[in-house]
Parts: sequence; C-alpha cells; structure tokens
Amino acid sequence: MAIATMTTPLPISFFPFLLLIPAICFTICHANSNLLCIQSEREALLNFKNHLIDPSNRLSSWVEGGDCCKWIGVVCHNLTGHVHQLHLATPLSPYEQSALGGKIHPSLLELDHLSTLDLSNNNFSSIHIPKFFGLLESLTYLNLSRAQFQGAIPHNLGNLSKLQYLDLRGNDLKSESLQWVSGLSSLQYLDLSYANLSKATDWLQVTFKHPSLLELHLSDCILEDDPYLICVNSSKSLVVLDLSWNSLSSVPKSIFSLHGLVSIDLRFNSLDGPIPDYFGNISFLEVLDLHQNSLNSSIPNSLYSLNHIRFLHLSSNKIEQDISEILQSLSRCCLGSLESLNMADNQLSGHLPYQLG
Ligand SMILES: *[C@@H]1O[C@H](CO)[C@@H](O)[C@H](O)[C@H]1NC(C)=O
Ligand SMILES: *[C@@H]1O[C@H](CO)[C@@H](O)[C@H](O)[C@H]1NC(C)=O
Ligand SMILES: *[C@@H]1O[C@H](CO)[C@@H](O)[C@H](O)[C@H]1NC(C)=O
Ligand SMILES: *[C@@H]1O[C@H](CO)[C@@H](O)[C@H](O)[C@H]1NC(C)=O
Ligand SMILES: *[C@@H]1O[C@H](CO)[C@@H](O)[C@H](O)[C@H]1NC(C)=O
Ligand SMILES: *[C@@H]1O[C@H](CO)[C@@H](O)[C@H](O)[C@H]1NC(C)=O
Ligand SMILES: *[C@@H]1O[C@H](CO)[C@@H](O)[C@H](O)[C@H]1NC(C)=O
Ligand SMILES: *[C@@H]1O[C@H](CO)[C@@H](O)[C@H](O)[C@H]1NC(C)=O
Repeated sequence: MAIATMTTPLPISFFPFLLLIPAICFTICHANSNLLCIQSEREALLNFKNHLIDPSNRLSSWVEGGDCCKWIGVVCHNLTGHVHQLHLATPLSPYEQSALGGKIHPSLLELDHLSTLDLSNNNFSSIHIPKFFGLLESLTYLNLSRAQFQGAIPHNLGNLSKLQYLDLRGNDLKSESLQWVSGLSSLQYLDLSYANLSKATDWLQVTFKHPSLLELHLSDCILEDDPYLICVNSSKSLVVLDLSWNSLSSVPKSIFSLHGLVSIDLRFNSLDGPIPDYFGNISFLEVLDLHQNSLNSSIPNSLYSLNHIRFLHLSSNKIEQDISEILQSLSRCCLGSLESLNMADNQLSGHLPYQLG
C-alpha cells in the first residue's frame, strides 16, 4: 500500500499524508511483526557465522538478505528491531553432533544491544574466552558453560557492569585472582566450577564480599584453606553456596556470618574434627550437605536449632554417636521441615526406634 502511493506523482496537498506514512507503516509492520532486522546487525551475525564451524548446519536459516530476527537462536527487541538475545546452546542429545566450534569473531560487538549470549554446550576446544566479550556492555546474561574454552579467564569480563548471570562451569579455565569479579557490580549468579582457582587466594575475600551475589558455585576449583583470612565482612545477600569437591580442611569462618544462606554444599572436601558449632548461626539453612569428609565426634547441639532444615546429609564421615539420640533431637526441632536425612557410613551405635520401622 505504501509503495503504490509513493510511485504515484502527488500534488503538494498530499504532503501532510506522506509524512504520516512512516508512522502508519511503523504501527502496521510491528503489529504484523514482519519487521526486518537492522542491516548492520545482520551483516555482523553473518560475519560471526562465517567464522564458526557448524557441522550439522544448525544455522542454515542465517542467510544473506533474510530477516535476522527470524533466524534460529536470534531474538530481536519487538519495537526497535535490535538483536537482544543469541541462544546458541547445543541441545543435549547423545545422537546430536551439532556443537558449534571455530572462532568467535569480534563482529559481535556490532550488536550493541545484546543482553543475552548463550554459547553453552558447544566445542570451542582450541580457543580462549575472547577478551572483547568485556566490551559487550549491555550483557546481563553470559552462559559459556561446557563449551570447551581453555586458558585464563580474561579479566576484561570484569567490565560488564550490567551482567547478572555468569556461567563458566565445566571449561578448562583458570584464574590467578578473582579481583575482576568485583567489577561485576550487578552480578547475582556466578558459576566457575571446574576452573583451576588454586592460585586465586583471594576467592573468599572477593566473592563473599560481593554485595549483590545470590548464588555462588565454586565446585571442583582446587580451593584450599585460606591461612590468612580468618574472617571477612561478608555479604548478606548470598543464598546458595557450592564449595563441593575442593580441598578445604576447615569450614571458612566467614560462612557463619552469611546469615541469608539457605543452601551450603561442602561435599567431598577434607573437613576434619567435629562439625563446627557455628552452623547453628545460619538460622534459615534448608540444605546442608557435608557428605564425604572426615568429620568426627558427635553432632553439636546447635545444629538442632536449624528448624528450617530440609536436607541434612552427613554420610561418609566419622561421626560417633547413638542414632536414637540423634533422631530424638531431630524430632524435637525439625520434624516439620526435614525431608531427607542421610547418616550412612558413619560410626553410629544403638538401634533405630520402632516407630521408623
Ligand atoms: C513486546 O515486548 C514487551 C516486553 O517484552 C511485551 O510486553 C509486549 O507485549 C510485546 N509486544 C508485542 C507487539 O509483541
Ligand atoms: C571438540 O573438538 C575437537 C577438535 O575439533 C575434538 O578433538 C574433540 O573431540 C571435540 N570434543 C567433543 C567433546 O566433541
Ligand atoms: C547455562 O546453560 C546450561 C546448559 O545449556 C544450563 O544447564 C544452565 O542452567 C545455564 N546457566 C544459567 C545460569 O542459566
Ligand atoms: C576492561 O578491563 C581491562 C582488564 O581488567 C582493563 O584493562 C580495561 O581498562 C577495561 N576497559 C574498560 C573500558 O573499562
Ligand atoms: C592448577 O594451576 C596451577 C598453577 O596455575 C598448576 O600448578 C596446577 O598443576 C593446576 N592443577 C591442575 C589440576 O590442573
Ligand atoms: C567491616 O564492617 C564494619 C562496619 O560496616 C567496618 O567498620 C569495618 O571496617 C569492616 N571491616 C573490613 C575488614 O572491611
Ligand atoms: C555465631 O553467633 C554468635 C551469637 O550471635 C556470635 O557471638 C558468634 O560470633 C557467631 N559466630 C560466627 C563465626 O559468626
Ligand atoms: C577428630 O579429628 C581430629 C582431627 O583429625 C583429631 O585431632 C581428633 O582426635 C578426632 N577426635 C576423635 C574423637 O576422634
């Protein structure tokens, strides 16, 4: 309709109507959502695709001249047409050989409204995480989990001040300091599991002091005890903490001042001696997993003040106590909340009460 009008020669008096055409088209085009993507962003995406290896041709819809807002994995803003999200995770299926690989081209920087970038479960086996990711300043969500990245995590990521979710789990990464995490002033979720953080002796100070962090996963990061840092002023925001599969021989004291914690996972560490009294300080704790450590002695009474506890897993330790005594105490404090108790593989004595049978 608009085009037919344009090709007809028009008298001067039609000019006000002409001025309305862009406005009309704007409304109609958006209502029908047949908006063409922004050309420079389409070029950028094609350039990015051309440097990838795409063995199963997953990106076959990404072709010259097409509406990039309709390409697989691309989400544009419905009003501006800017590319806002790239969802390029490989679907997990044993029969699918569709992981993307190759190089990640800096043409992505052209997408200056990009807020979500998901490259998880791909195979970038030969490359580092690109430093220029630190310039994608609109990012709120970056997921590179299990994408076979290697080498040092670029500190440039610390420039992403809007980032809320950073998931780098399951890559062959390392970092010698986590100071860069302090720059992520909006960060709520951080997963660096399987990265080698053995040299990052500041992990505790940086992550526990982070003011907005709600969830922290540092599983299997070769973390050892911090001999210097007994207590830091810790964040009141942290809710979920996963320090499983490390080499901690004592529970970092500052955990006990994380009063908002709901879940702590310390499975598969080297904790020894008695279970610290102070767990009782974390009043809203629902999940406590201390499976597979060397904790001995009996369960401290303070643990029975955790009356929100749902999962209490103390299996595979060296706890010496009468089982009926434990069950009696738990039934007094926590019968209403407790869903799962695992005390297997300890040095318990006594008999289970009849009621349980
Ligand atoms: C555009 O997106 C906004 C927020 O994402 C949504 O509320 C609105 O309904 C969308 N409009 C159309 C026409 O799809
Ligand atoms: C990833 O790609 C590399 C080289 O292209 C290959 O050797 C390796 O087996 C791939 N890994 C997986 C898990 O597909
Ligand atoms: C990242 O991607 C993986 C695999 O696609 C998914 O399981 C995980 O939940 C994602 N992480 C976040 C923080 O959304
Ligand atoms: C981004 O981070 C790097 C490394 O931390 C730093 O050298 C650089 O100045 C930062 N750039 C901006 C624009 O903040
Ligand atoms: C972890 O990194 C340190 C130093 O960066 C290195 O000495 C050590 O071998 C690495 N450990 C593993 C399991 O890769
Ligand atoms: C801890 O917080 C208190 C009060 O907010 C402050 O006075 C003190 O300097 C802080 N200590 C450290 C080591 O940051
Ligand atoms: C545990 O709570 C008690 C009482 O409020 C307090 O005195 C103690 O310092 C706390 N312990 C830790 C390690 O935060
Ligand atoms: C508990 O373990 C600690 C540290 O290994 C040890 O010193 C202590 O003797 C043990 N206590 C008991 C009762 O086995």
